[in-house]
Amino acid sequence: MEKEKETKTLEEEQQVVNPWEVSAKGTGKIDYDKLIDQFGCQRLDQSFVDRVFRLTSRSPHIFLRRNVFFAHRDFNEILDAYERGEKFYLYTGRGPSSEALHLGHLIPFMFTKYLQEAFKVPLVIQLTDDEKCMWKDLTVEESKRLARENAKDIIACGFDISRTFIFSDFDYVGGAFYENMVRVAKCVTYNKAVGIFGFKGEDHIGKISFPPIQAVPSFPSSFPHLFSGIDKLRCLIPCAIDQDPYFRMTRDVAPRLGYNKPALIESIFFPALQGEKGKMCAGDPSSAIYVTDSQKDIKDKVNKYAFSGGQDSVENHRKYGANLEVDIPFKYLSFFLEDDEELEHIRKEYGSGRMLTGEIKKRLIDVLTELVERHRTARAAVTDEMVDAFMAVRPLPNMFN
Ligand code: TRP
Repeated sequence: MEKEKETKTLEEEQQVVNPWEVSAKGTGKIDYDKLIDQFGCQRLDQSFVDRVFRLTSRSPHIFLRRNVFFAHRDFNEILDAYERGEKFYLYTGRGPSSEALHLGHLIPFMFTKYLQEAFKVPLVIQLTDDEKCMWKDLTVEESKRLARENAKDIIACGFDISRTFIFSDFDYVGGAFYENMVRVAKCVTYNKAVGIFGFKGEDHIGKISFPPIQAVPSFPSSFPHLFSGIDKLRCLIPCAIDQDPYFRMTRDVAPRLGYNKPALIESIFFPALQGEKGKMCAGDPSSAIYVTDSQKDIKDKVNKYAFSGGQDSVENHRKYGANLEVDIPFKYLSFFLEDDEELEHIRKEYGSGRMLTGEIKKRLIDVLTELVERHRTARAAVTDEMVDAFMAVRPLPNMFN
């Protein structure tokens, strides 16, 4: 891994993707092909989409069809094992840094929900309240409160309580989980951590000690109430690609501990309304659509801020068509408009200038409003008792059925 760092070219240095920073010099656009090379993961091609379709006999999720999840590590091995009749478990998480989630935050959870349903497998969701307490200016108490609030949004995505365990680090770390943390920590030198995460001398030691906490949910033995006696159960982690450094480290140490390496399925970032410049910033309300936005907020934000690839006059637009490469309404629709044919139609009409910017924005407003309304209704139905139930340390007796 240190070698990886040394061989980075200057060009690659200009693109920074790690759990705390996503940026690219120049256009600001992330080059995902380069990222795959840089990180050493694999591209998720059409053959995987077909294979998932065959294995689950249900239509592949829109995020698979549209290449939102575009990279992987050993996903093929998970599918091989599944085909032989072996199960696996899913692991994902969230750092609770803000009260309200934006659409980008929902992507891994919507996708994980689909995977859980399609493969009928258990799922653990880590809320890294400790991580956000250490990286953001949040007190322990406030981080814990945000974790519970965010748990409601996560539950609202529709997870099956009979197969899902949600935990917060402040509550759950200890016992077998902590034993694994110590095992991992002993395998990673300070130099290696600096190579992977770019820690600086001024960083407090809490940050340096954090990576094992995010690593060990990849190992079944961290959850004795769920996976006792099935140490060889494989783990699949759906996440955005900025989380890859944590799991590079995890995969590196796993064999030394006698554990399986976790497999990964990784997504691109959901672009900000203002255009593709890395991932959205939770701090700037005008850069994102939040799950708490009203219909009017959505309409105003899309109309005012969504970066358009349309031409500056109707005349020019009719003549040259829209630049779909940079057009945010089109990009957002490709994440959320389910109907493949309609999206194709829009691609042709808008790209050729027959459809106008106002028209595509209107379609986007409808799609987002429906999505946000659905989420709002689901979240309103999540009670404190339900949060407690999802977060209770308990066996899940029917998690594979
Ligand atoms: N570090 C992640 C964040 O800040 C949270 C997280 C913990 C996570 N475990 C994970 C994300 C596993 C994806 C997969 O949001």
